[in-house]
Amino acid sequence: MISPIAWLKERIPVDGDQLAELSNEPVPNHLKRWWFALGGTPAYLFVVQIVTGILLAFYYEPSPRTAYGSVKYITDTAAYGWYFRSVHKWGATLMIAAVILHQMRVFFTGAYRKPREINWMIGMCLLVCTLMAGFTGYSLVYEQLSYWGTTVGANIGGSVPLIGPFMREMMLGGEAYNERTLSRLFIVHAAILPTLMVGLIVVHIALIRLQGVTEFQFKDEDQTKPRHFPFFPDHLYTELSIGLVLMILLSALATILPATLGPRADPLSTPEVIKPEWFFYVSFRWLKLFSGTFAVLSTGFIAFTMFIWPFIDGWIRRKSKYQEASVAVGIVAVLVIIGLTVWEAAVAH
Ligand code: HEM
Repeated sequence: MISPIAWLKERIPVDGDQLAELSNEPVPNHLKRWWFALGGTPAYLFVVQIVTGILLAFYYEPSPRTAYGSVKYITDTAAYGWYFRSVHKWGATLMIAAVILHQMRVFFTGAYRKPREINWMIGMCLLVCTLMAGFTGYSLVYEQLSYWGTTVGANIGGSVPLIGPFMREMMLGGEAYNERTLSRLFIVHAAILPTLMVGLIVVHIALIRLQGVTEFQFKDEDQTKPRHFPFFPDHLYTELSIGLVLMILLSALATILPATLGPRADPLSTPEVIKPEWFFYVSFRWLKLFSGTFAVLSTGFIAFTMFIWPFIDGWIRRKSKYQEASVAVGIVAVLVIIGLTVWEAAVAH
């Protein structure tokens, strides 16, 4: 009788040795330091978001009449609903923080330079998708702040010259917030963005696998020891340990500081203070500092500059003696971002 393994091999003709070869990518020693392996953290948190998001979607009902009640049901009644909602909410916060820290690591170590320019741009698309997922997720609860946050966000989008009004209409499913708005935001949040992100993460990691990660040499490194270690099982263990720590952290945060529910949205009464989530504080403060169109256009310009930064940096390095000008640019950018975020957090209006 044919063995089950032989039976399976006949139907799925994959060579075990080839698979082992694929998973044995040599990884440079510096990836043992967690800040160099930060890319694995958003990848792990993305999976947590998909699993908890599917569980929440079993109960969530995306319409202005039902959304708030369904979130209340998840929080107060559904078995472990409060826990999965809180893990989803904290997972979003940690994922955004991890993406930003990973991007900073890549930026300050110059790991976006030739030949990794395209992967930096794919990373930028992932950053935009992650922020959009945060924005649309916040809108779904139909609390006062999520309703007014969406309205303000749509109006900001609407002030972009030429395409603004079209963008606002696409986002709201009409001229203003209406019966269809929440189902539209829900589809963007739960179907379009996750699908896009899966595709982008696959290409991002495939490119890392093809190019290998950037090699760094450290002064304190023992030159007599091998400079690489195998991906499987060594690096996988590192990633799994980080995953375990994250799961404990997420559970602790969800239990100690569970997601709350503010008052139900009232389209007729504008709250005194409208604030977005913390990750939009920087752009919110920027928009308050400058007049509408200039603020929106300059935000677009900054985002575009970040997108093509590897090419700008390459040009600076070819044309001038300031080979590490990017570090100075990065430090100024980080200080401005922190300054504007703290400013927005500290003031009421
Ligand atoms: C969901 C978001 C993201 C995921 C899951 C992700 C995942 C990863 C992983 C697993 C690595 C391998 C090395 C490491 O762990 O650092 C990596 C490297 C890299 N990432 Fe990301 N990343 C994301 C977002 C970004 C962003 C926002 C950028 C920049 C705009 C970026 C640019 C890069 C580059 C250039 C590398 C190569 C680094 C090197 O060669 O040392 N990634 N990413």
